[in-house]
Amino acid sequence: MRIILLGAPGTGKGTQGKFITEKYKIPQISTGDMLRESVVLKNKIGMIIKNIIEEGKLVSDEIVCHLIKNRIKKHDCINGFILDGFPRTIQQALYLSKKNIKIDYVLEFIIPHEYILERISGRRIHIQSGRIYHVKFKPPKIKDKDDLTGQTLITRKDDTKEGIKKRLEEYKKVHDPLVQYYIHEKKRGNTKFFQIDAMLSFSSIRKKLETILKK
Ligand code: AP5
Repeated sequence: MRIILLGAPGTGKGTQGKFITEKYKIPQISTGDMLRESVVLKNKIGMIIKNIIEEGKLVSDEIVCHLIKNRIKKHDCINGFILDGFPRTIQQALYLSKKNIKIDYVLEFIIPHEYILERISGRRIHIQSGRIYHVKFKPPKIKDKDDLTGQTLITRKDDTKEGIKKRLEEYKKVHDPLVQYYIHEKKRGNTKFFQIDAMLSFSSIRKKLETILKK
């Protein structure tokens, strides 16, 4: 099963992607996570993109397509994968199509944009495992500590007020053509496309996903 998760920053793609990974045993491939890892490793890509991602701008199609190409070749993708945050531009969507990478489900997470700042500014991450918390909506048992390991939770460098604003602006520029592209693909019978009310509770969204992924 191959799945794309679309949606503005903070709509819950990362959170629900983890659930899909556990339930369906397919890896969650987050271009954002891969890019941040390159920055930490200070490799060639990391040096090029550090400022771009911290400012909330989009990294070039060439770089992200290169990362995806290498990642989906890996053995753990044999039964499918979840693309979280890719594609983000029409060029990236066309890349998948040109490479004949058939996508079974495209799931768009939707929340009114005025809730995004609260969602992201309250986010706390356990970097080692990728577990995602929220100070209000999903607080850890002990403040700023991971529930399982007790290690310290972090805030992402691009989760500043300015960074969030910029990411949202970038998202608005690319959103409509990308969604139109997948609506068209759905009409052509090439994929299934669903929009998800991401204002619902964590568990309600999970249930909806389970129902959708049976269709
Ligand atoms: P990326 O890492 O993809 O960030 P993003 O798209 O901004 O998305 P987020 O990770 O912020 O949000 P999310 O939807 O995963 O929300 P989450 O589940 O954490 O990209 C970062 C950067 O990398 C980009 O700006 C760009 O520079 C670059 N990049 C990445 N991919 C690229 C590409 N393809 N092309 C070019 N550049 C690329 O949830 C958020 C919070 O809300 C959490 O605290 C969570 O606990 C809470 N929450 C989740 N669901 C609910 C709920 N139902 N109710 C209440 N709270 C909830």
